[in-house]
Amino acid sequence: MDSDKSSSFSKGKSGPGETGRVLDFPFSLSEIAATADEDQAQGYAPLPFGHLPEDGPAPFDIYLKIKLKSSPEPRFVLCCPQGQVFPQEWRQKLQQVKISNLYFPVAEVNAVLGHLERRLKEDMESPRRSVLEKAIVSYEVLEVWTRNFFASPQDRADVELNLSLKCIDGLLHLIGQEKVHLGFIFEIRRHDRDRYTHSLNVCLLGLAFVSHLHWDADKARAFGLGALLHDIGLTQVPAEVLKKKGALTADERESVEKHPARGYRILKNFGSISNDALTLVLQHHENGDGSGYPQKMQLADIHPWARILRIVDSFEAMTEDRPWRLARPPRETLQAMCDDWHQSQIYDPVYLKAFIKFLGTL
Ligand SMILES: [Fe+2]
Repeated sequence: MDSDKSSSFSKGKSGPGETGRVLDFPFSLSEIAATADEDQAQGYAPLPFGHLPEDGPAPFDIYLKIKLKSSPEPRFVLCCPQGQVFPQEWRQKLQQVKISNLYFPVAEVNAVLGHLERRLKEDMESPRRSVLEKAIVSYEVLEVWTRNFFASPQDRADVELNLSLKCIDGLLHLIGQEKVHLGFIFEIRRHDRDRYTHSLNVCLLGLAFVSHLHWDADKARAFGLGALLHDIGLTQVPAEVLKKKGALTADERESVEKHPARGYRILKNFGSISNDALTLVLQHHENGDGSGYPQKMQLADIHPWARILRIVDSFEAMTEDRPWRLARPPRETLQAMCDDWHQSQIYDPVYLKAFIKFLGTL
């Protein structure tokens, strides 16, 4: 963990308690970093800028991530200690330079999640918030929750799923509102090139798709939770394998191909996760033509939820940048999926047709 609690952010002339000098610290604004990669391993997790405590003292320490020109390694600099009010001037300045994330110490995650849960409730009930704003709040709270749930095995417990289910319920409610154009789901997606945002995007698009299929709320909610957690087994695959740009060795491929079964094992004792959702996790890389893994199942034997997730997951993955290739545009992605289906029947043709029709409504 590379932190600096004694920097001029927290002490001296430009400390958080002072309001006269905004961001007066010995770093260029261009050195403030906002990417989320590898932070959890260093002991910090990103907090979307919009979730800074608005009034009153911060219930947890808030850090900025700085990349000095003189050092390749980022530093985390305390900018608002727990108990102090985040200066309004700093908020405006950071907004001007489009900083999307600040950071909190992973050790303080419970205080952060408690704060986010209160904010979620207030914002979802507020008549002043638009559908888009409410969707962004739900998505971003779910992002913090997912990052912690994936990265902190010691914190995984049934009760911890409550906040994720509140976010999923909120998103389902917004998706199900009449006269709301679902194009907002493409507006709020973030592509930070990590598995957390990929899981969130699959969950969000999956919720919208099964709502389009007129699933009832309980079934859609259970599917959404499975979609959110479908790749949790990847937390047991070495990071260097997941980031590798070249072809995988046989051992590396075997490690990756174990992730559905590992995910199933991680989740199988959670009472809040349905058997259908567990099966989705286990079978989400099965292909209809028997070329998938881990069991090389044929289409008729694959659970319908896993068949749906295969389509949504592929669409999401192909429209995101990867270390070895750039994102494809959505239209090209759909064409590629149709070609794959015609050639090898990877996808369920009925759901694929419905998915293409659904995308046409967005
Ligand atoms: Fe996967």
